[in-house]
Amino acid sequence: MKRPIISLSIILLVAALVRFYQPDQPTATSAELSAAPVAESISHYTEGTASVDGIGKFFHGREISKVMGHPAIGWLEREDREQEEAPSLAIDALPLPPNTVIADIGAGSGYYTFRIAPKIPFGKVIAIDIQPEMLTYLEKKSAELKVNNVTTHLGAIDDLKLEPGSLDAALMVDAYHEFSHPDEMLKSLFTALKPGGKLYLVEYRGEDDGVPIKPLHKMTAAQAKLEIESSGLRFVSNSTVLPWQHLMTFERPLTP
Ligand SMILES: C[S@@+](CC[C@H](N)C(=O)[O-])C[C@H]1O[C@@H](n2cnc3c(N)ncnc32)[C@H](O)[C@@H]1O
Repeated sequence: MKRPIISLSIILLVAALVRFYQPDQPTATSAELSAAPVAESISHYTEGTASVDGIGKFFHGREISKVMGHPAIGWLEREDREQEEAPSLAIDALPLPPNTVIADIGAGSGYYTFRIAPKIPFGKVIAIDIQPEMLTYLEKKSAELKVNNVTTHLGAIDDLKLEPGSLDAALMVDAYHEFSHPDEMLKSLFTALKPGGKLYLVEYRGEDDGVPIKPLHKMTAAQAKLEIESSGLRFVSNSTVLPWQHLMTFERPLTP
């Protein structure tokens, strides 16, 4: 009759020894567990005093510039743009198969849109802007030029409003630095790109004092890389083909 008592004692002893010798495991409190997702979504936005050309909102330490209004269409379409910035070199450098679906984000008057369209006769350019006046200008020009592979699309300041995985590529020329919600825009772009899809980013070189553009309308390559890669897009290359601007390529990785 003593056996069950002995067995129970042995079991308890073994259990105590196992507990004693178990290596230290980091244990999370319930407060720590609920904090984890919040830590992942730490905002990289800060507020500060607005400079003349800025909005007083900073992303990864860079002050976001004011949006260029539609009355500046004349400047975007200026005749000496080719001579100054050589956009044709950028367009030649874009590796776009003829069936590419590409979004020109912050298309403005469509300076790049209408020069890319002939390169992709079986694809299309989705010209996106937040200013309806820019889209009206684009539509008028599209009709004048009889272009049939350009569509216009009204985006929101924080959302492209595109179908997930609907883009082969995206282009942002002198536009990203003025996005008031770059973090949200980049996340929206990440989702809209197909895996392997590319982002071509053109920004005036912030490292180069010789580029005659206001500082908040320029970006250094290091800053652009820091910001864009924070969305999960991966840096691929930075071409030196342009006289004033970076032409950077990023891609949505094939695997998450
Ligand atoms: C300086 S213009 C450049 C236009 C054109 N890419 C070019 O190089 O001729 C920047 C454009 O970005 C647009 N923009 C600003 N924030 C935007 C956003 N969140 N989404 C789409 N377009 C935006 C502005 O309305 C403006 O038309």
